[in-house]
Amino acid sequence: MAEPFDAVDIIRIKRDRGVLGKAEIDWTIDAYTRGVLTDEQMAALAMAIFLNGMTPEEIRQWTAAMLDSGERMDFASLARPTADKHSTGGVGDKITLPLAPLVACFGVAVPQLSGRGLGHTGGTLDKLESIPGWRADLSNEEICRQLGEGSGAVICAAGSGLAPADKKLYALRDVTSTVDCIPLIASSIMSKKIAEGTGGLVLDVKVGSGAFMKDPSTARELAETMVDIGEAAGVRTVALLTDMSVPLGLTVGNALEVRESVEVLAGGGPADVVELTCTLAREMLATAGVADADVEAALADGRAMDVWKRMIREQGGDPEARLPAARHTHDVRAETDGILQDMDALKVGVASWRLGAGRARQDDPVQAGAGIEIFAKPGEAVYRGQPILRLHTDEPERFERALESLEGTLAVCEAPVAQGSGVVIDRIAKEK
Ligand code: URA
Repeated sequence: MAEPFDAVDIIRIKRDRGVLGKAEIDWTIDAYTRGVLTDEQMAALAMAIFLNGMTPEEIRQWTAAMLDSGERMDFASLARPTADKHSTGGVGDKITLPLAPLVACFGVAVPQLSGRGLGHTGGTLDKLESIPGWRADLSNEEICRQLGEGSGAVICAAGSGLAPADKKLYALRDVTSTVDCIPLIASSIMSKKIAEGTGGLVLDVKVGSGAFMKDPSTARELAETMVDIGEAAGVRTVALLTDMSVPLGLTVGNALEVRESVEVLAGGGPADVVELTCTLAREMLATAGVADADVEAALADGRAMDVWKRMIREQGGDPEARLPAARHTHDVRAETDGILQDMDALKVGVASWRLGAGRARQDDPVQAGAGIEIFAKPGEAVYRGQPILRLHTDEPERFERALESLEGTLAVCEAPVAQGSGVVIDRIAKEK
């Protein structure tokens, strides 16, 4: 059967700063999924979009077409409302782990379909896979049972049926330098999140050296674009802009971050991780119609921990098992007395990745025990010889490259450091 459009015409429209209509966009995504529109043609189109942008209507249609390329989960039969969170990815961002059980404590189901890490930002599934026995792959029936009759929280791998066009396009963008483009990021994230079938969605849009978006104005534009897409699709969507100029918490790496998450669930943990977990939990609960939840109390009295243990057991894991530890460590120490001036999140993320906590290619293995412990944050006083970071790896030959990536950060001197106003920078929502 003849195709209704020609890929070359579609590329020319975007190259010449034109606007694509719904029928053209629907065909483009469908033809790409079928292999009729080739990778070369999609690469040219993605670059034209990168350079010339898209209108809000084009972004909505592009998202809808990617959504329609695959299946949609449906949680309408659950007796509980659903809410989910998506983070654009950062260094030490383990928030999903304490957050999902915390929200589920209040009767809101959390279908958290997650991914594995690529590059310097860690992946939620990689972290949880350091728990002995834990399994990421669940069937749709298992997900629904766990949400409806079980713990109420699921963190698992997104099945290949959700937005398959995005999988293909994301891999292509990765090798054509077209990842950091707001229309393409927003439609990629939102097509998957809407396909997940959640009723409410809270977006954690990271800002700073360790994030996709390095400055607040582009992060705000991405957040506003995603909130518009979500609301237009009938999902109550709120975005927070949060700081990613320094790593979140005091650990980076898979098992190390699980350990810190369990500390938060036990009522302790670093203040920034607790603050962000509680803020996101309140926002998620609000999207599901639960107001004034005392989320701090649910961390302090063990309710969230009980849901965590149940959730881990439901997915085959042993929440009491000893977590894997790396075979070798190396301390990075302060060279002088003074105040720690900075800790660049990107540099720490790259160091952790080079230690073996992350992967360069989608199917590379990761080391469960690799990563970095942080003993001091910027603004804190340190003394000469005091450990600032402890690097962990199974392969000591990795230390040298990890140390190289830390060059130019961790300066210590007498100057005071301006304190930020906390981890949450801004909130973006459509008022109802
Ligand atoms: N995460 C996604 O899922 N897609 C993007 O384009 C960027 C980050």
